[in-house]
Amino acid sequence: MAKRQKSVSSETKRSEIQLPKGKLGVMIPGMGAVATTFVAGVEAVRKGFAAPIGSLTQMGTIRLGKRTDARSPKINEFVPLAGLRDLVFTGWDIFEDDMHAAASKAGVLDRELLNRVKPFLSSIKPRKAVFDRNYVKRLDGPNVKKGKNKMDLAEQVRADIRDFKKSSGASRLVTIWCGSTETFIEPGPAHQSLKTFEKALTRNDEAIAPSMIYAYASLTEGVPFANGAPNLTVDIPALHELSRHNQAPICGKDFKTGQTLIKTILAPGFKARLLGLSGWYSTNILGNRDGEVLDDPGSFKTKEESKLGVLEHILQPRLYPELYGNIFHKVRINYYPPRGDNKEGWDNIDIFGWLGYPMQIKVDFLCRDSILAAPIVLDLVLFLDLAQRTSNLKGIGIQEWLSFYFKSPMTAPGLYPEHDLFIQMMKLKNTLRHLRGEELITHLGLEYYD
Ligand SMILES: NC(=O)c1ccc[n+]([C@@H]2O[C@H](COP(=O)([O-])OP(=O)(O)OC[C@H]3O[C@@H](n4cnc5c(N)ncnc54)[C@H](O)[C@@H]3O)[C@@H](O)[C@H]2O)c1
Repeated sequence: MAKRQKSVSSETKRSEIQLPKGKLGVMIPGMGAVATTFVAGVEAVRKGFAAPIGSLTQMGTIRLGKRTDARSPKINEFVPLAGLRDLVFTGWDIFEDDMHAAASKAGVLDRELLNRVKPFLSSIKPRKAVFDRNYVKRLDGPNVKKGKNKMDLAEQVRADIRDFKKSSGASRLVTIWCGSTETFIEPGPAHQSLKTFEKALTRNDEAIAPSMIYAYASLTEGVPFANGAPNLTVDIPALHELSRHNQAPICGKDFKTGQTLIKTILAPGFKARLLGLSGWYSTNILGNRDGEVLDDPGSFKTKEESKLGVLEHILQPRLYPELYGNIFHKVRINYYPPRGDNKEGWDNIDIFGWLGYPMQIKVDFLCRDSILAAPIVLDLVLFLDLAQRTSNLKGIGIQEWLSFYFKSPMTAPGLYPEHDLFIQMMKLKNTLRHLRGEELITHLGLEYYD
């Protein structure tokens, strides 16, 4: 085995990363199934009676150097992440239920587990929400702020943020949207610059959805913001600008769980082996509140756009017109209350191989949406906090290296998003290596045969 090899792409300059001193405050607009499963899970792990399965920051390792070096530390030993013990929480919701009541209603976690974390969960009560039924037609609730215009509501959220920082004693904060999917909005003139956005807030422009008000308030306070839903929210030039200006990192959109996760695992495999695709029919039955909200055509359209983009970007029909130029791709979500959070997603995939001979694959995924989403929330919180402490990440705005977690990853204008889960994973790990001045791993491997 040769020793003289030099890395193909080596990075020697480390970023400056401030250590995570003190508490990290996690602020969650939307205290429903995902948020409560996340917070209850963190507390269960802290108490030592459950494992953080599915979380890269808690269980993942990262290979450093050559395969022969045998250096694979845990990710949370390689980069300085906040510890679970340092997390403190608050949230906003249109319902008055504390986190224990909300988790019980969501029905994801069993009563026994919830009882063991009850005192902690019950102590987290929702702040009054910024809410408008025009953006989520299927919901209505009493715990809602009143204000003379949207700017006034943003000021109230800013006051909540300052209040939480003071009362919790947190040294740093992160906001993550776990609220319902809002109706479909396209970027318009109000979203183009911070100036136009602020004017629109003051004149109550309908182009400004409630989620944007939380995002604006967070970024104005210098707090990073992640978007777990497919809403436009922070993915507009005005808020990109604010993020860069205030060195408050952003990422989104739409947690990649369930059916889309499986799609972004399978599709890269078909493409790698040049198997053609003629159709992909995906349907879901889902009975939680998210399913109810998505039963409204406006909210469903937002979700549909997010889910449909995936195949086009992975399969690149322009480069492979014979294989992927004529795909029938359909996604349905059906609200079916008996299933609760335990969604069932069916996929019928029509592929073709050598000489055009057709084949079929059927996938029946009996998944648990919030169980898949909770570790994503944890990782995003910890990585966004890392970004805000890292010299060459905090001022760049969109954190594309976190695409791994999203159905519809945000990118710089003009860049197409990477949807392939394995490319996303490499991007994330190489970003961490880059930050620590380690060699990037290209998997070339010729040096082992010199
Ligand atoms: N569970 C998953 O696997 C998954 C995957 C991707 C995206 N998502 C998205 O994450 C979000 C949360 O999912 P969930 O299953 O927890 O839904 P949920 O309905 O259980 O919870 C959403 C909560 O947000 C609250 N809410 C709505 N608008 C609000 C506002 N303006 N301010 C404050 N609170 C508000 C609702 O009252 C509700 O309690 C949804 O948008 C969903 O589409 C979930």
